[in-house]
Amino acid sequence: ETTLAAAANQSGRYFGAAVAANKLSDGAYTTILNREFNSVTPENEMKIDATEPQQNNFTFGNADRIVNHALSRGWKVRGHTLAWHSQQPEWMRNMSGTALRNAMLNHVTRVATYYRGKIDSWDVVNEAFEDGNSGARRDSNLQRTGNDWIEAAFRAARAADPGAKLCYNDYNTDNWTWAKTQAVYRMVQDFKQRGVPIDCVGFQSHFNAQSAYNSNYRTTLSSFAALGVDVQITELDIEGSGTTQANTYRSVVNDCLAVPRCNGITVWGIRDSDSWRSYGTPLLFDNNGNKKQAYTATLDALNSA
Ligand code: G3I
Repeated sequence: ETTLAAAANQSGRYFGAAVAANKLSDGAYTTILNREFNSVTPENEMKIDATEPQQNNFTFGNADRIVNHALSRGWKVRGHTLAWHSQQPEWMRNMSGTALRNAMLNHVTRVATYYRGKIDSWDVVNEAFEDGNSGARRDSNLQRTGNDWIEAAFRAARAADPGAKLCYNDYNTDNWTWAKTQAVYRMVQDFKQRGVPIDCVGFQSHFNAQSAYNSNYRTTLSSFAALGVDVQITELDIEGSGTTQANTYRSVVNDCLAVPRCNGITVWGIRDSDSWRSYGTPLLFDNNGNKKQAYTATLDALNSA
């Protein structure tokens, strides 16, 4: 196959990109998007500050532009994200306790209900664990409402959209030896044992020198999958260039392909110039939209599955 989506589809997987609504009018951008991908994640448009800028006042215009672009072409949509310590609107940042808990649950319910039937997978909760060696939950206003805030969010999402897969999504959870990875693993294990509705775990996979790809990634993916959840690579980008970068992309794709429940890969942007990173060349297409070595390695890996 000659495109990422078609190549991934040979094994029933999707290949997606993070998309910004304001770039859908950029012809060079949409040419690549429409040719290569069959899944989208709104990069910012479904975050809490975007969808509920004032309490109980919901705005879905920018997110809808992306969702409609995808659904009209038969693609999947990954919803990102319903509950997060970051990108909270001003009104929510100032809340705590029961009022915040109820506001969070109302947000989950309202947004998941609005998009019911349209979302393949929701990042219900994003980045709730601390970096480093503690294995602890990240301190946040949401965490301070009680340790059960994550399962409460998942239960609300399930009630609002029973057909969507519900994911926990995080970064620095790719290396199997890291305390953060193990802590998330134990949470998912506990949720499965107690019947808390969780269907998938997203591994962001923003790789750079400080947070490097490790070949035990495959062990991480297969270990989580063995708990009875799908695993997805949700925000892939890899700093570097040339053959080294291409080889890392190839390894990541091969790790996903080796795990039957790794059912999709999303890159966090299309061209290097679309990346959230302020420097570097972490994506599959250069600033002019040309395919990089990393693209070819990714396509070849998908085709050899
Ligand atoms: O759109 C406004 C613009 O109107 C304003 O003038 C400008 C000045 O600050 O800000 C613009 O918004 C920025 C937005 O990106 C769109 O470019 C925000 O400041 C900026 O904080 C935001 O950054 C996003 C970041 O998440 C924070 O939410 C990045 O685009 C996005 O790629 C990044 O994505 C995250 C995932 O959601 C979670 N995992 C990590 C990943 C990378 O950080």
